Amino acid sequence: MTVGSVKIAALIPAAGGGTRLGLGPKAFVEVAGRSLLARSVDALAGQVDEVLVALPEGMKLPGGVKARSVTGGATRQESVFRLLAATEAEVVLVHDAARPFLPPEVIRRVLAAVAEVGAATVALPCPDTLVRGTEGHWDGLLSREQVWTVQTPQGFRRGLLLEAHERARSEGFAGTDDASLVARLGHGVALVQGDARLFKLTRPDDLLLARALAAVWDAEQEGVHG
Ligand code: CTP
Ligand code: MG
Repeated sequence: MTVGSVKIAALIPAAGGGTRLGLGPKAFVEVAGRSLLARSVDALAGQVDEVLVALPEGMKLPGGVKARSVTGGATRQESVFRLLAATEAEVVLVHDAARPFLPPEVIRRVLAAVAEVGAATVALPCPDTLVRGTEGHWDGLLSREQVWTVQTPQGFRRGLLLEAHERARSEGFAGTDDASLVARLGHGVALVQGDARLFKLTRPDDLLLARALAAVWDAEQEGVHG
């Protein structure tokens, strides 16, 4: 899909070591027989002009994954920077390989917001009570009314994201996502409704959730495509 005649690239940082999950580089971990990377690439491939993946040094794309690859860096931010340098698309969608359940309507919402604002991320309102504290100690209540948890995909005009990355590099700022780099330029970032299924597989418990969801998700895909 293109927004008008604008070329769109999906950039997938997949070069992490998966330390917290403990099963090796996470993008290669399989859920119900398919790697997280294959799942993320497939979700995006039909809606963009090209897919680029940042891989751990010395690793190759798993069989059947159709994308271009670059070698990632020591941090997620560095991996995204390298992906950005490898495309000339006007719009980029950055999406973590570790979030394999990406509904097509979410991609459409992000792209629509990018066309309007130039930068957009999916995010979810916080449903739980929110407190400040350290493990074992409740320090104080926070208002959850103005709090959102940020997911990916995040979409940007490429030139804007490149400027944000270059600024962050030159100022030694390390962010956990890309929207925060753009926001610190003073540029607006649209918040687009995310989806609970977009959770990031981070710790071993998340695998249980992913396996349960894959059963439903894969059956639905069969229904649509089979
Ligand atoms: N990532 C990357 N390059 C890095 C670090 C992370 O491309 N140097 C990617 C991961 O592959 C993942 C996404 O960024 O798709 C989000 O990172 P995270 O969930 O932290 O994954 P890992 O870094 O692999 O996990 P951990 O922090 O537990 O080692
Ligand atoms: Mg990490």
